[in-house]
Amino acid sequence: MRTTVNTLQKMAAEGQKISMLTCYDASFAALLDEAGVDILLIGDSLGMVVQSHDSTLPVTLDEMVYHTRCVARGASRALVLADLPFGAYQESLAQAFASSARLMQAGAHMVKLEGGGFMADTVRFLVERGIPVCAHIGLTPQFVNAFGGYRVQGKSATDAERILEDAQRLADAGASLVLMECVPADLARRVTETLSVPTIGIGAGPDVSGQVLVLHDMLGVYPGKKARFVKNFMNGAPSIQAAVKAYVESVKNGTFPTAEHCF
Ligand code: KIV
Ligand code: NA
Repeated sequence: MRTTVNTLQKMAAEGQKISMLTCYDASFAALLDEAGVDILLIGDSLGMVVQSHDSTLPVTLDEMVYHTRCVARGASRALVLADLPFGAYQESLAQAFASSARLMQAGAHMVKLEGGGFMADTVRFLVERGIPVCAHIGLTPQFVNAFGGYRVQGKSATDAERILEDAQRLADAGASLVLMECVPADLARRVTETLSVPTIGIGAGPDVSGQVLVLHDMLGVYPGKKARFVKNFMNGAPSIQAAVKAYVESVKNGTFPTAEHCF
């Protein structure tokens, strides 16, 4: 049976952790699907791990559509979530809808966009028109130039309050999921306790509704810098299938992440 927005809501309500991994092609989609990953994210991180750019900004909507098609064909059970790339949704509500529609027609079941409370109108516009949305807050990589690097967000009390407020506004606007990247574990826990929708964390500690990692990071094949929150599940695993199963298992039973992966 296909994982849907209702499944995710039910899992979070029952305290069952949600497992998510990025995925960019059909073979991995089939493998991840079979291993029990709940959500396959066609992340614009493909700009870095597939295309070798130094940020996600060069990724185009056409490229996201192509990879979404590939993943959608390989997955039969997991929910397919596609990133809206930089420049494909910030201009207007109409642009956000047109870009999201292309990702949905390519096989996505939900789209993800980056930004704080100011994106609430966009979230509402999409949700009202049948497009479930995951809101990505905290370290939003499309803002790397504005942030002046990839750094933990929400460390000061003021920033933490703003992120909590952003999360609330995005959830109120109808976001189905709120994803937090590189925020203090304590803040992610507060956001998760406050919201009625599931939260997903990456570098956000254990007290969220689910976890996500970049596939190439958790398999240890990305040649770039390894972030603190990454765990290489190939260590000690006899196969890629086993490594992915170990990841799912660790997310479900709460043994990943541990303090060494948190801020
Ligand atoms: O693009 C991506 O892989 C992401 C995850 C890191 C959440 O947005
Ligand atoms: Na992304």
